[in-house]
Amino acid sequence: MAFNYADLDAGEIEFIAVGGVEEIPNGGRIFLSIDEHNIVVFNIAGKLFAIADLCSHDDGPLGEGELEDEYEISCPRHGAHFDVRTGKAVKLPAVVDIPAYPVRVIGTTVEIGLPAK
Ligand code: FES
Repeated sequence: MAFNYADLDAGEIEFIAVGGVEEIPNGGRIFLSIDEHNIVVFNIAGKLFAIADLCSHDDGPLGEGELEDEYEISCPRHGAHFDVRTGKAVKLPAVVDIPAYPVRVIGTTVEIGLPAK
């Protein structure tokens, strides 16, 4: 199971501003690279979710996949599914979860939570 950054305690997280909410419209997504973290952020019905942009099956470009069943992203390489809310692998061939990151909006700024340095 991959580490879920959303499970970190408040003091262990450092929130980093990544852009304005207007940059991620409903149904949209953005790709981020922060330190060693490659992240895709989704806006699904006005809620933001951030997961690793890397499939745990064979390193496929997960963030380029289609969203299905509202909260599942389908890997474009071999079709594994992950829950964008938790990073949980929910369909083979992936069996290992991927990281999920906490997201918050302060004013109009989107922030992603990463382990504090
Ligand atoms: S690389 Fe994603 S399902 Fe194989």
